[in-house]
Amino acid sequence: MATVTELLAPVELDLETLLTELRTLIGAGHPILQAAAEHLFSAGGKRLRPGIVLLISKALSLEGELSPRHRRLAEITEMIHTASLVHDDVVDEAATRRGVQTVHSRFNHRVAVLAGDFLFAQASWHLANLNNLDVVKLLSRVIMDLADGEVKQGLYRYDAGQSFENYLEKSYCKTASLMANSAQAAGVLSGQDDDQLKSLHHFGRQLGLAFQVVDDILDFTGSEQQLGKPAANDLASGYLTAPALFALEEHPSLSRLIEREFSEEGDLEKSLQMVRDSDAIPRSRELAEKFARESREALKWLPKSPSARALVDLPDFVLSRLY
Ligand code: IPE
Ligand code: IPE
Ligand code: MG
Ligand code: MG
Repeated sequence: MATVTELLAPVELDLETLLTELRTLIGAGHPILQAAAEHLFSAGGKRLRPGIVLLISKALSLEGELSPRHRRLAEITEMIHTASLVHDDVVDEAATRRGVQTVHSRFNHRVAVLAGDFLFAQASWHLANLNNLDVVKLLSRVIMDLADGEVKQGLYRYDAGQSFENYLEKSYCKTASLMANSAQAAGVLSGQDDDQLKSLHHFGRQLGLAFQVVDDILDFTGSEQQLGKPAANDLASGYLTAPALFALEEHPSLSRLIEREFSEEGDLEKSLQMVRDSDAIPRSRELAEKFARESREALKWLPKSPSARALVDLPDFVLSRLY
């Protein structure tokens, strides 16, 4: 399977430009907040979300070119994503991200809270300046969803009785909403009709859900070195993701350890082992595969082009992170 750079090849140069442009866009702010944002931007994430916006833009234009408005939308998308990560790392007390220190560990909590707000605010301003009310509605909804997702996650910590539905809603809010709504917004800027907009939304939604389930599996199976961020952290923090919820069905005794918040010696290790040795990981993988398949199928109507090919291959790329 291709690496993310190979996959995003049709927009590789545009993603380089995006990075430069992001630096200019945040440049006007306070130096310390600028330094904090720059710290993460230059650590280099996968740039999957702006990649999706740019690929959709190219796939939907006759000559395969990008409009300045699509470029700006891609920048906004990465800003919102990065802001959410800065705040998520504060909430999770995570020490690393993208292979470097998180903003709050490199600077401090005050800087991280303000830097996240600063990025959200910048994103909203540039969003409004696109002068397209439909796009404003789609992306401001994402910012609401992100906050909602973090709150939901906090409310259900260590709650072994929560439903799977609840986990999927939280995952939609934290991850899939941005992919769904930015994909749809790219379609709006390209003047697509309602059916096409719906399928772009569905593509992003199912891709985001697949992405989150894969991320949740990797938390159990990956290493910090490999992920560039802490591993085996979700369960320890009381966040019950797909693997933990499936393991609970198989081993009801796990709920006792979770509900006493792993307070006794060996509780956490025993629980991690229960999840890893159960059917939970294969079942989670099947769930991610189902979402990936649905995502791929949503794009059948796209006219053939290198960008369309890359979009259709994205769901498989997401799954390939597991191998
Ligand atoms: C991290 O997203 C947050 C999740 C949705 C799990 P990415 O894995 O896309 O993060 P970067 O941007 O590549 O660092
Ligand atoms: C990802 O959720 C979504 C956001 C950060 C908004 P996670 O909490 O699983 O992300 P990581 O694992 O910290 O990257
Ligand atoms: Mg997190
Ligand atoms: Mg995670």
